[in-house]
Amino acid sequence: MAFMEWSQKFSVGIPVFDDEHKKLIVIINDLHGGIAAGTEKEALQRATNRLIEYTILHFQHEEMYFEDWVYPEAAQHAAMHAELKRKVFAYRSRIEQEESSELAAEMLRFLRDWLAQHILVEDKKFGAFLFDKGLR
Ligand SMILES: [Fe+2]
Ligand SMILES: [Fe+2]
Repeated sequence: MAFMEWSQKFSVGIPVFDDEHKKLIVIINDLHGGIAAGTEKEALQRATNRLIEYTILHFQHEEMYFEDWVYPEAAQHAAMHAELKRKVFAYRSRIEQEESSELAAEMLRFLRDWLAQHILVEDKKFGAFLFDKGLR
């Protein structure tokens, strides 16, 4: 069984964002698999960077929609994205300094739990708002 699995309960009702969440989960699972397989540190760092870059891209995409659709809860939702980025950047510098795959695994567990909770609450709320606006 995969480290994290997308299921219908995570659907926010907007396919483009569901697809991005699925891709994020794929990247998380790749990194997790790499750690479990004892991947060398350069590959681990590349995978960590890829995960962080895609996370940022995804947040930017949601935030673009906040603006375009004048989402009333944009500020609090974007603040959560910012806080997550701050935490993940802190993890990355510690992972690089300590060359620790255990720390990378800890970051993944944190990210998995954060993402599940964030999708289920905030992204679903935003998805429902867009759905109401007629977006599919
Ligand atoms: Fe999201
Ligand atoms: Fe979000």
